[in-house]
Amino acid sequence: MPKRAQMTAGEIAAANEQLAGKTPEQILAWANERFGDECTMASSFGGSSGTALLDMARRVWPGLVVFYLDTDYLFPETLEYKDHIASRFGLKIVGFKSRWTPEQQAKEFGPELWKRDPDLCCSLRKVEPNGRALEGYLAWITGIRRDQAKTRQAVGFVEWDAQFEAVKINPLAEWTESQVWDYIREHRLVYNRLMDRGYKSIGCTNCTRPVKDGEDPRAGRWAGTGKVECGIQTGSETIMLLSKKG
Ligand code: ADX
Repeated sequence: MPKRAQMTAGEIAAANEQLAGKTPEQILAWANERFGDECTMASSFGGSSGTALLDMARRVWPGLVVFYLDTDYLFPETLEYKDHIASRFGLKIVGFKSRWTPEQQAKEFGPELWKRDPDLCCSLRKVEPNGRALEGYLAWITGIRRDQAKTRQAVGFVEWDAQFEAVKINPLAEWTESQVWDYIREHRLVYNRLMDRGYKSIGCTNCTRPVKDGEDPRAGRWAGTGKVECGIQTGSETIMLLSKKG
C-alpha cells in the first residue's frame, strides 16, 4: 500500500523558508525533532559531502541510522572508510545489497551490464535497494548539493521524494565544495583515501575514474556516457519557492 505524504506541499514550502539561512547542523536538528527515528541517512562513504555530514550527524544526532548501498562494486577504500566511521562514530551503519549478486546479474542481463546499460545496472544495484533501505521510514537525509550538477541546482533543504514516497532532507543543499573541504580540514576529519588520488565523486569501481585538475568533480562518474545520476536522487520535487529568494 503506498505511503501517504507526511508533509503537504505547503508544509514543505514553509519548512524551506524556516530553514533558509540555517546551518546544516540546525537542519539536521530540525529533521531529528520533526521525524526522530522515522528518519534515516544515506551515505556513499565516498565523497566530501558525506564526510562532513557524518561528522555533523555524529554530534547533532547520535544513534541516527545511516545506510549505505553496497553495490558489490564499491572500492576497498570506501569499505575501509565505512569501517573507520562504524568503529568511531556513534552512528548505526547498515548495508543494503542488490537482490542480484554480480553472478546472477551477469547470467540474467549479460556480462558487464554497466557498459551496455548503466541505467539498468544502477537500477538493480542502487535504486531498488534504496527503496528497501527506506522501508519503514518517513524521511531520509542525503548529502546532495546544488553546486554538484545541473540536475541538482534547484534542490531544496526539504523535498517530497515521489520515487521513494518519503520526505527528503538535504542539509548541505546550499553549501559549496570549498565550504565542505573547509569543514573537513577544520575538524581534521579522516576521509576516503581515494580523494587524495584524484577521485572527487566516488561510486562503483567499474564506473568511476579520477578527475584531472580543472575538470568537473563529477566528470569521473560514468565518464563518456552522458549519464550524470545513478537514479536515487532524481525523483524529487523541489517545492522550494526559489523565485521568492533575493
Ligand atoms: S549518485 O548519483 O551516486 O547518487 P553522489 O555520489 O553525488 O551521486 O551521491 C549523492 C547522495 O546520494 C549521497 O550524498 C548519498 O546521500 C546518496 N548516495 C549515493 N551513493 C550511495 C550509496 N552507495 N549508499 C548510500 N547512499 C548513497
